[in-house]
Amino acid sequence: MSDVAVIGAGYVGLTTAVCLAHLGHDVVCADIDAERVERLNKGEVPILEEGLPELLAEGLSSRRLRFVLGAKNAASISSFVFLCVPTPQGDDGSADLSYVDAVAREIASVLRPGTVVINKSTMPVGSTRMVQRVLAESGAPPEEVLVASNPEFLREGTSIRDFLEPNRVVIGCTDTSVAVRVSDLYKNLNAPILVTDPASAEMIKYASNAFLATKISFVNAIANLCEAVDADVREVTLGMGYDQRIGFEFLHPGPGYGGSCFPKDTQALLYAARTAGCDFSLLEGVVQVNQEQHERMVTKLTALVGGSLNGVTIACWGLTFKANTDDLRDSPALIIARRLIEEGAIVRAYDPAAGERAADMLPGLEFVADPYEVCAGAAALTVLTEWDEFRWMDFDRVAEMLESPVVLDTRNLLDPTALRRHGFTYEGVGRS
Ligand SMILES: NC(=O)c1ccc[n+]([C@@H]2O[C@H](COP(=O)([O-])OP(=O)(O)OC[C@H]3O[C@@H](n4cnc5c(N)ncnc54)[C@H](O)[C@@H]3O)[C@@H](O)[C@H]2O)c1
Repeated sequence: MSDVAVIGAGYVGLTTAVCLAHLGHDVVCADIDAERVERLNKGEVPILEEGLPELLAEGLSSRRLRFVLGAKNAASISSFVFLCVPTPQGDDGSADLSYVDAVAREIASVLRPGTVVINKSTMPVGSTRMVQRVLAESGAPPEEVLVASNPEFLREGTSIRDFLEPNRVVIGCTDTSVAVRVSDLYKNLNAPILVTDPASAEMIKYASNAFLATKISFVNAIANLCEAVDADVREVTLGMGYDQRIGFEFLHPGPGYGGSCFPKDTQALLYAARTAGCDFSLLEGVVQVNQEQHERMVTKLTALVGGSLNGVTIACWGLTFKANTDDLRDSPALIIARRLIEEGAIVRAYDPAAGERAADMLPGLEFVADPYEVCAGAAALTVLTEWDEFRWMDFDRVAEMLESPVVLDTRNLLDPTALRRHGFTYEGVGRS
C-alpha cells in the first residue's frame, strides 16, 4: 500500500511526488512514458528544476518514492490519487480534458473504497463533478470514491520551493471529512489552507493566472506608452512597485507572457466566460496586448537592422519561455524566432537549457551551443530569455563577433549604459 499515487511525472506531477515523499508520505508516481519511468527509478531527472535531483535521490533512497508505468499500477494501491496530467488548449480555446478523462476511465475499476481522487491539473469549473461522473460510469465503487479539487500554483524554475513554501493551499470539496483528509497531506507546511466548494477552487486557479497575465499585459502597455512619451518604464515600475497594493512581482515589461499555463489558461477562461454568456472584454484585451507585444519585438528588430529582415542574420540569446527552466511550450522566444524566419531572417540561437530540442521544434532555426559563436556575423543580437549568465558576458568579444554591435534586449536584462560604452546600439522595452 502507498499513501499517495501521483499520475503524470511532468513538471507538476514530479514536483508533487518528490515533495510529498520529502514530507514523509509513501508515494508511487506513474507515467505512460516507459523511458521516463525507467530513468526516474535510476535517479535521473528528465526536467530542469532546482532542488529536484536532490529530492528525487532522497525519495528513492528512503524508499518512500518509486515510479511505475501506467496509472492503474499506482492508483490500485493508494489512498489518494493526484491527477497531474496535461490539460492543453483545445481547438476552440477550451481546456482539453481528454487526458484527465482517459486516466479516470483507466483507474476507476481498481480504486479501493475510501480513495480520494484529487484534481491537481488545471481544470475548468465543473471538472470535479465531471471526474466523479466518469469514475462512477467506469466502475468505481459508487459513493465510496470521492473527488476533490486541489489546484497547483507552482512556478517552473522554483517549483520545489513553491510547493514546500506555498502562499496557500486550496482544496475544493463538498465533503468536509474528505477535505480534512486532503489537508492533512499538507499539514507539515506552514501555509494557510483554504477549504471551499469545488467550483470556487477551480475558479481560483484560473482567476489567479488571468490576473497575473493581466499584470504583465498592463505593464507592457505602459512600457509601450513610455516609449512614445520618453519616460522610462524601469523608473515607472519602481515607483509603482513600492505601493504595497501593487507590488513588484510580475511588473516587468518584456516580449509578452508565454509558457505552458498563461496562454492556455487565459483562453480557457475566455471560453468559460463566452459559454456562460459573460462579457470579459478586459481579458480579451490582455490576450490581444500579449500577441501584439510579440509582434512589436519583430518590428523593433526590423527597424534596428535597417527596415528589412530578409536575408539578415539574427543571433538570439535564450529560447525557453523564462529563465531557469528547460520548458519551451508557448515560449515567446520561439514565437518571435518563428516570425523572424517568416520575414526571411537567418535565425541562430543559443540557450543554456533548451539544447537541440528547440531546433527540432522550429524548422529553420539553427541552434548554436555557444553564446559567442551564435553571434558570428549576425546583424543584430536579441535577448529573448532573461538567463542570468547573459548579464555577465564579455561584451567586447560579443561586439567583435557581431557584424554590427546592435542589441535588442526584450527582457531589459542588460545595462544600456555599459553596452553603449562598449559601442553598442541598444534598444530595450519601454526605456527612454
Ligand atoms: N507546468 C506548470 O508550471 C504548471 C503549474 C501549475 C499547474 N499546471 C497544470 O498541471 C497540469 C500538468 O502540467 P505539467 O506542466 O506538469 O505537464 P507535463 O506535460 O510536464 O506532464 C504531464 C505528464 O503526464 C503524463 N501522462 C499523460 N497521460 C498519462 C496517463 N494516461 N497516465 C500517466 N501519465 C500520463 C505525460 O507523459 C507527462 O509526463 C496541467 O493541467 C497544467 O496546466 C502546470
